[in-house]
Amino acid sequence: MSQPTRKPDLTETSRLSPSAAGGGDRGRSGDTKPIPSSPPARASDAPPPSVADIEAAIQESAKSGTNVDTVVGRAVVDQGFITREELDAILGRSRIGPGPGTPVDRNQMSLATILVSEEYITKRQLARIQQQVEADRTGQKIPGYKILGKLGAGAMATVVKARQLSLDRLVAIKLLPPKYTNPQFIERFYAEGRAAAQLNHPNIVQAYDVGKVGEQHYFVMEYVDGRTVYDDITSHKRIVEKDAIDIAIQIAGALQHAHEKGLIHRDVKPKNIMITKEGVAKLADMGLARAMNDREAAEAEAGKAFGTPYYISPEQVHGRIQIGPPADIYSLGATLYHMITGVVPFDGKNPSAVMHKHLKEPLNPPDQVNPRLSAGIAEIVELMMAKSPKDRYQNCKDLILDLRSVREGKTPIIAHKDVAGADLASLARVEAAAAPLEVASADAGRGGSDLGSMFAQWPVIVILGLLVISLIMNVILWMSGS
Ligand SMILES: Nc1ncnc2c1ncn2[C@@H]1O[C@H](COP(=O)(O)OP(=O)(O)OP(=O)(O)O)[C@@H](O)[C@H]1O
Ligand SMILES: [Mg+2]
Repeated sequence: MSQPTRKPDLTETSRLSPSAAGGGDRGRSGDTKPIPSSPPARASDAPPPSVADIEAAIQESAKSGTNVDTVVGRAVVDQGFITREELDAILGRSRIGPGPGTPVDRNQMSLATILVSEEYITKRQLARIQQQVEADRTGQKIPGYKILGKLGAGAMATVVKARQLSLDRLVAIKLLPPKYTNPQFIERFYAEGRAAAQLNHPNIVQAYDVGKVGEQHYFVMEYVDGRTVYDDITSHKRIVEKDAIDIAIQIAGALQHAHEKGLIHRDVKPKNIMITKEGVAKLADMGLARAMNDREAAEAEAGKAFGTPYYISPEQVHGRIQIGPPADIYSLGATLYHMITGVVPFDGKNPSAVMHKHLKEPLNPPDQVNPRLSAGIAEIVELMMAKSPKDRYQNCKDLILDLRSVREGKTPIIAHKDVAGADLASLARVEAAAAPLEVASADAGRGGSDLGSMFAQWPVIVILGLLVISLIMNVILWMSGS
């Protein structure tokens, strides 16, 4: 039975072809899939799936030789939607074979269709049954955890909510599809999982554990009761500048922590940033993208690199293995662009077209898309998204300084256009020189010296200069006269 068709979504991590986009250290072809011209709506905005699709998903989840009508029948009786007698009556008059392994005759009306059409259950309740079947299936397989339900699914994995029984706490578990069998990939998955578990930061979704049950590899992490930035963008069209800067500062802090420990995220995007009910931003999937992006894994996957086309850095499009903090800064820049403008920085008819634009097409300045934006935030995003990694912020510390300046209504020191042409090493010196001045400026009224107060005293400087010149002239005249 076929799986319900999922709409292609470039905001998801997908296997991409660097070469197809015009990059290509490895130069192999890869898959491309048609994409919508703008990011698709949230799942909750989409029309409810058809009964046939839900049945297909239930059948796929059950995978125990039991036919879908049996699974649905058991669930609706267990949950009190219908009595055993009513179910038997329906099965009797509908020629539906309830026995295990009975193939579903597509010419007959299925039990699910009858239950929905006779209003025993709604389509939404049927969809929930599907989630429970999925949860039951996986829950039986992870000892120590009680699976409570499905939280979501991305391109590569399903995430479920669970209770860790030993510590009696809620967790989220990412279940990798069993197709990831390449030994190097698995080794990397565990290595990165262990590395991510070393990180401890309030803005990083805490990694707890990695493990395997049967063929199922899983990743246990902190459960975040909240929503993703992607949800916020789609429900409000865009995020107001002040809030977007707050999110970016928090995520830059998370990245700085990870970078200092030698970890690069590689998949920063709105769907990987969660916002708690208290408004704290948390970066998810730390440690996973590296495993997914690993050279051996990529090669084992016929040379297809991993990444998310709307937010991928040019060096990742090139398929480079050695990437540094500027790659994450680029993706955070693309995420910030999406947050404040409501559109992705580059769009195209397929992943290759989008990736090609990351490599070659000049960025449409964010303040041209949304004229309400401050010049400062536009300058920051443009610097974050410079095509060459060496032309970007070199670390998140610098980025945070600039974001804080703009949040306080000041000009971003590093990104400001007057100095944007200079090389970043000298910019760093400018910034280092400016940092103590910023502190001193608070004392300016009490006689502190900063750049601002120096310029405020320029008439004094001019008068002093004139005095010196006139003194020199007098000396020259006196000497020539004597
Ligand atoms: N730690 C978590 N706590 C609560 N919900 C989570 C957590 N991690 C993920 N989710 C939910 O599960 C969904 C799927 O996550 P997943 O990482 O598999 O896919 P994605 O990030 O949306 O896309 P991709 O497959 O490209 O990574 C997320 O959109 C989010 O709603
Ligand atoms: Mg994710």
